[in-house]
Amino acid sequence: MKKVTNKIVFLLSLFLISTIGTMAFVYVKSKQKMVCATEVPRLICGTENMLTEIGFKGRDVFNTNCATCHKLYKKMSGPSLKGIVQNGHYPSTDYFIKYMRNEQSLIEQNDQFALAINEKYTFDYKHHFELSDLEFQQLLEYIAE
Ligand code: HEC
Repeated sequence: MKKVTNKIVFLLSLFLISTIGTMAFVYVKSKQKMVCATEVPRLICGTENMLTEIGFKGRDVFNTNCATCHKLYKKMSGPSLKGIVQNGHYPSTDYFIKYMRNEQSLIEQNDQFALAINEKYTFDYKHHFELSDLEFQQLLEYIAE
């Protein structure tokens, strides 16, 4: 008889422990979900600062169109691009967009800024990107200092 009671007590405590365990697991999981659901700003490796939603899209534009030749912080076949528009020789962001859309035509018009940029580099590449205004805005946000 004592043996049977022992068994029952043993099984009951096993049941209790597993129930408490499951409840704790479910509780922790539900807490995690709550954190995930609040759109926290994402930290992208290597950029060192938080990206806004616009900048986050700009990263895609950059990766698709520019990343084969440019990095943000390191020179590749093209120069590093972080902060280049603010620190460079661009009279305005509009000018930068014009330059990116059709560098060749600016050179042909004897545009002094475009010529000056070209003089800086030995390897010449004529940028010609048919991106929308919005895509340029996103890209500019991403490469801004
Ligand atoms: C096929 C390679 C290649 C691609 C793709 C490319 N670039 Fe370049 N880029 C270069 C090279 C090479 C230079 C330096 C020589 C020159 O300007 O022609 C340069 C120069 C630049 C400069 C001028 C730097 C200065 O001193 O002002 C900027 C700005 C720039 N690139 C931005 C971009 C952006 C933005 C994209 C994507 C939309 C892009 N590039 C795509 C190769 C590339």
